[in-house]
Amino acid sequence: MTKNPDVKSFFDSATSTWTYIVWCEASANRSCAVIDSVLDYDISSGKVSTISADLVVNFIREKNLKLEWILETHIHADHLTAASYLKEKLGGKTGVTNRIVAVLATWEKILNNAADTPLTGEQFDHLFADNEEFKIGELSAKIIATPGHTPADTSFLIGETIFAGDAIFLPDIGSGRCDFPDGSAEDSFNSVQKLFEFPDFYKLYIGHDYPPVGVREAECVTTIGEQKSKNIRLNSRVSKKEFVEKRSKDDLGKPVPKLLFPSLQVNLRAGKFGRQENGASYIKIPVSF
Ligand SMILES: [Fe+2]
Repeated sequence: MTKNPDVKSFFDSATSTWTYIVWCEASANRSCAVIDSVLDYDISSGKVSTISADLVVNFIREKNLKLEWILETHIHADHLTAASYLKEKLGGKTGVTNRIVAVLATWEKILNNAADTPLTGEQFDHLFADNEEFKIGELSAKIIATPGHTPADTSFLIGETIFAGDAIFLPDIGSGRCDFPDGSAEDSFNSVQKLFEFPDFYKLYIGHDYPPVGVREAECVTTIGEQKSKNIRLNSRVSKKEFVEKRSKDDLGKPVPKLLFPSLQVNLRAGKFGRQENGASYIKIPVSF
């Protein structure tokens, strides 16, 4: 039985995001999954480009892979997903946790977007249940709910490799902020304990990296064991109380990501922009006093 995937990673330095293509070179089946793709978007001009997404498209074509799944670890607040573009170019099914329904309801109150963003999540091809098992070709995959950063964060266990999104970052960086609507530092702690139950040798790929300038380049992979011993925020010696206090303190007054509103609107529509009667697409920014 196939245990571990081959992984190709792409780093988008504009949003510090890692995108992954996951497949199994050793098996006859050429199916692959893309995790957390990026659509380039310039907030000042509203211009969209597919330079990052095309790197993914080209790699899949060159390797003669078949895109089966287009997955999101969560509804990102700092970059736009290229899910819709990838699906249009290569086919495949978009997939996200069914917990997204709570996120859709929360943001509908802020964005008033129910007209083009179904609250059911039907804009995604598949809504995964917690612990749901699925296949990427011959690779076995499983959903691990890892809420905290947002209430609908998911890690994907593929063979003996975990793609953790923003549940935890590299050991010298720590973990994802927990101050988005319905985020929870307590949940974040509990989610990481769940990841720590996997064997120390399991590889763990992260959703973002923020490499200290002049110290190291962007990296994307560590192991469960390394996180347990070295993560500066969430190693196995840190208590829930300590973590929650520090996380909450550090998140206080943190600026919102530059692409918060564009990201949320597009990502909640599975990567679509929506259209007005005049055929144009707009990004809505709520005004608050
Ligand atoms: Fe995130």
